Amino acid sequence: MKKVLIIGIGAGNPDYVTMQAVKALNEVDVFFVLDKGEVKEDLVKLRTTVCERFITDHPYRVVEVASPMRNTGDPDYKSGVRSWHDEKAAIFSRFIATELKEGQVGGILIWGDPSLYDSTIRVLQQIIADGKIAFDYEVIPGITSVQALAAQHKIALNAIGEPVHTTTGRKLLEGLPQGVDTVVVMLDNGSGIRALADEDVDIYWGAYLGTPDEVLISGKLAERVDEIERIRADLRARKGWIMDTYLLRRTPDR
Ligand SMILES: C[S@@+](CC[C@H](N)C(=O)[O-])C[C@H]1O[C@@H](n2cnc3c(N)ncnc32)[C@H](O)[C@@H]1O
Repeated sequence: MKKVLIIGIGAGNPDYVTMQAVKALNEVDVFFVLDKGEVKEDLVKLRTTVCERFITDHPYRVVEVASPMRNTGDPDYKSGVRSWHDEKAAIFSRFIATELKEGQVGGILIWGDPSLYDSTIRVLQQIIADGKIAFDYEVIPGITSVQALAAQHKIALNAIGEPVHTTTGRKLLEGLPQGVDTVVVMLDNGSGIRALADEDVDIYWGAYLGTPDEVLISGKLAERVDEIERIRADLRARKGWIMDTYLLRRTPDR
């Protein structure tokens, strides 16, 4: 049976790679990389560094394919995502069918952890459900950008005994659910950060967490929001891409 390992490699720092991930990396015969274009060259670089540093006793090769882009013009967000997943499923199916021999192990390296805002698990399950090719798969967890954010700011995610809501910048525009005072925001294109700026909330913001370009800012959102927007725009212009995550908390942690 062919096997695919979905390996979380942490969100930026090669030191985030776990011992379980190292063992998994050393089982892989063929790595499959969806190339997201030159602007994300740094992300590909982390993957190369991880392979070079941690694979010590197993020959491997790398197959790169241009990543399909989500059609952001589709007015129905979920249908846009579904057709993007269909394209990815077609690419992964071809990879498993043509690049892996019987008994071989394929590896897909996932930024952070595969369970958080990543479609790979769902896409592989879709391929299995389609029933055209048979393979096993395993998921190896990684350190998420949310954990990196909390560690770098030296904070606990939750206030004592309270829930934490994780969402996207787009969803934050709809406001916070009832009873939620702490929210972690990912995938913000820059529009979500002002959503709660009129309220009394603290922000813990981090860009390029775990990398040499890491930037951290914290304080009252109302006092920091202009600075964060300016720095965010500068960083984005300088590097060509940005990844930032932030935590907003209505009640200060005690
Ligand atoms: C597609 S999601 C992937 C999340 C990833 N699976 C994880 O476990 O962190 C991409 C979003 O994760 C966040 N992110 C990932 N890596 C980050 C980093 N090093 N610094 C700041 N935010 C990061 C950003 O909010 C970015 O928009």
